[in-house]
Amino acid sequence: MKILLLGSGGREHALAWKISKSSQLEELYIAPGNAGTKLHGTNVSITVNDFEAIKEFVLEKEIDMVVVGPEDPLVNGIVDFFLADENLKNIPVIGPDKHAAQLEGSKDFAKEFMNRHNIPTAKYATFTKETLTEGLAFLEKMKAPFVLKADGLAAGKGVLILETLAEAKKELTNMLANDKFGKSSAKVVIEEFLSGIEMSVFVLVDGDGFKVFPEAKDYKRIGEGDTGLNTGGMGAVSPVPFAASGFMDKVYNQVVVPTVKGLKADNMNYKGFVFIGLISVKGEPYVIEYNCRLGDPETEVVLPRLKSDILDLFEGVATQTLSERDLEIDERAAATVMMVSGGYPENYEKGKTVYGLHRVEGSIVFHAGTTADGPAVTTSGGRVLAVTSYGKNIETALKLSYENIEKIEFEKAYYRSDIGFDLV
Ligand code: AMP
Ligand code: GLY
Repeated sequence: MKILLLGSGGREHALAWKISKSSQLEELYIAPGNAGTKLHGTNVSITVNDFEAIKEFVLEKEIDMVVVGPEDPLVNGIVDFFLADENLKNIPVIGPDKHAAQLEGSKDFAKEFMNRHNIPTAKYATFTKETLTEGLAFLEKMKAPFVLKADGLAAGKGVLILETLAEAKKELTNMLANDKFGKSSAKVVIEEFLSGIEMSVFVLVDGDGFKVFPEAKDYKRIGEGDTGLNTGGMGAVSPVPFAASGFMDKVYNQVVVPTVKGLKADNMNYKGFVFIGLISVKGEPYVIEYNCRLGDPETEVVLPRLKSDILDLFEGVATQTLSERDLEIDERAAATVMMVSGGYPENYEKGKTVYGLHRVEGSIVFHAGTTADGPAVTTSGGRVLAVTSYGKNIETALKLSYENIEKIEFEKAYYRSDIGFDLV
């Protein structure tokens, strides 16, 4: 198969690495890719939302399948774009169509879906500019902390958790009346606060059958001990020790199966990954959010634990025969630690030369924000490299990642030294 993979982060390097191991692969192109994806295929300088340029490339290279890494092109309708085009409509795109991608693109849409299909989630209500007064009154009836969510995509910044009623009222007003997140906060979901440990489950669906990939936990805050600003993710582990079989059975029966059935009952065109963000409240799973793609950096631990040929699974999605395919999981644990640019997630510098990559032994380095200038690798983003290792448990996997991360250098590099601290 000739594959075009869209995206340029650590998730896409992990996808490229895994796709490159497939016996069915003929040619792999990555648009736009990074210095790491180049090791497994050909980078093409097309951006993920330039559908016309993607079309031209797909037809020119006779691409057999498009794999979409990030949510943006899905929420913007790349699947619909392909289906509406005579020359593209038979080329499968791994991902949901624009309507189904609203599971990630609109918090209100996702909450309605969960309620309709009896999927456990926090109680909520949705408000607009016109119902701001009712929203403020609703807050008065809730207990602190207050959870406010901008309905639309807001680059991971749209969820506010506020300690006092006064702050919550001020922020609700800012979001609805003063367009704090632009169009994304034209609607705001106010939610009951849930207290517990979070983890994520990834399900590949073909509209009928499904496969559950290994679960993972990511570490979102910049500082040690889960403190400071939110980031795209500073590290991840898989499996998640607290998610023992009893809990995972509940996740399967109360969340995964109703979600897959719900997609079908609602006639959604969903052929791709469903990322289910969960919280365990006293051993009971609740859905915090859905995403319409794999997670980053979760993919950097989930795909290394997948033994099966990923193109065989994707072909199963495209032909709606996923149930007939095998999903084999590596018994070993995997952990990844993210090296980031100093200053991230606020202002940081780019263009720093990365040294020492050749000294890494026994870990896999997935590139997240790099470019290759000739033989040199330079930084081009906040999150730069994800250092993934296997181990008999997450402690040993983490130990190896930390040994190797010490060998890599770039100016002002930073990483958290306590990934997995709450689990080991
Ligand atoms: P989301 O974008 O919906 O995943 O929310 C971002 C983060 O906010 C989540 O990963 C949680 O840590 C936190 N969060 C969201 N909803 C709730 C809730 N109802 N209760 C407690 N924390 C929440
Ligand atoms: N690591 C969280 C995400 O990919 O959204």
